[in-house]
Amino acid sequence: MTREVKSVEETWALAQEVAATLRQGDVICLEGDLGAGKTTFTQGLAKAMGVAGRVTSPTFCIVQEHRAANPSPGAPALLVHMDLYRLHGEDDVIAIGWEDYLSEGAVLVVEWPERAGSLIPPDAIHISFAHLDGGERRMIEISNPHRIE
Ligand SMILES: Nc1ncnc2c1ncn2[C@@H]1O[C@H](COP(=O)(O)OP(=O)(O)O)[C@@H](O)[C@H]1O
Ligand SMILES: [Mg+2]
Repeated sequence: MTREVKSVEETWALAQEVAATLRQGDVICLEGDLGAGKTTFTQGLAKAMGVAGRVTSPTFCIVQEHRAANPSPGAPALLVHMDLYRLHGEDDVIAIGWEDYLSEGAVLVVEWPERAGSLIPPDAIHISFAHLDGGERRMIEISNPHRIE
């Protein structure tokens, strides 16, 4: 599914639609150039999951945990935003807690997912972001054969 969005608010609205489909242990891989809107989309997911704090880029800390204040029963209550750019392979990714987060029922939002290699599950949701021009328009492509459409 590909969606053209014309503003940050439309990006957030799409993130809210995606958030409504999420289950514990889902992995979302984000792709796109700097400034394409990956962090902005993650903010929208966090908002929809009921996370109170601010979502900023994880680049300098690799992992940021965002907990929902009042999660609904069964719904994912922890959003973990990871930027794997500085990691070197699956062992590093495991060392930062990948499997622990998944068994805790977190939703993992992953930038530079290629670093995680075969840890990325086959049913991961892949979202790619592209600038269309210098303004606010973005193309957001979501591939999730199992749930959205
Ligand atoms: N439609 C849009 N969707 C997302 N971000 C947008 C949009 N229009 C403008 N922006 C701006 O573009 C920038 C996107 O930055 P960010 O989400 O941090 O990108 P990335 O994480 O991919 O580097 C933000 O400053 C945001 O306000
Ligand atoms: Mg970012």
